Amino acid sequence: MKTKIGNQNVLYPMPVTVVGAIVNGKINFINIAHVGILSVKTPSQPHLISLGMNKIHYTNAGIKETKTFSVNLMSVNEIIPADYVGLVSGENNDKSQVFETFFGELKTAPIIKNCPLSMECKLYDVYNTPQHDIFIGEVVATYADEKILTDGKVDISKANPLLFDMNTIQYWSLGKVVGKCWSEGKKYPAK
Ligand SMILES: Cc1cc2nc3c(=O)[nH]c(=O)nc-3n(C[C@H](O)[C@H](O)[C@H](O)COP(=O)(O)O)c2cc1C
Repeated sequence: MKTKIGNQNVLYPMPVTVVGAIVNGKINFINIAHVGILSVKTPSQPHLISLGMNKIHYTNAGIKETKTFSVNLMSVNEIIPADYVGLVSGENNDKSQVFETFFGELKTAPIIKNCPLSMECKLYDVYNTPQHDIFIGEVVATYADEKILTDGKVDISKANPLLFDMNTIQYWSLGKVVGKCWSEGKKYPAK
């Protein structure tokens, strides 16, 4: 039996990301779990990702101004600073020193040094909803901590990503590998 539980969004867990941007000339960070994959790169289109950011946040103006931002995947090790940048606002707290950063190709997207993976993004578009700016970013460059690569490829088990569940308001970590994509289905009994 299934029970109707209203019209909740149950697309959790989501990876916890920290978005870096320059706001009013200063580096700021914001914890954003509502990230999405919009399209995968092909010869005619870039990798596009989305961020659902409430319009009340201080960071939004900086993304609109510089048209750049970074999306940094947090590991379980960064749970404390990642949560902190989601607790306080850059409007009245200087969050610029919470993470060590460097600048990449775009020059105005602060990239976090001590996290497993970072994407440097150019603002592609903004979709307006009554409460949220949905920032659409084009991934221009991706940076990986060498320690999380296996044979040159991102190894998500080494990245140990921090996951977010809105229903219990708790952070989770990753479980075990259970199968191969585009492969398990081949075991389905053919009719
Ligand atoms: C785990 C976690 C996830 C969050 N995810 C989002 C999100 O997806 N979208 C959003 O608008 N705010 C989200 N927030 C809230 C912002 O990170 C928070 O309000 C932040 O302090 C705003 O910073 P700013 O005012 O410096 O921009 C999240 C906070 C936490 C702790």
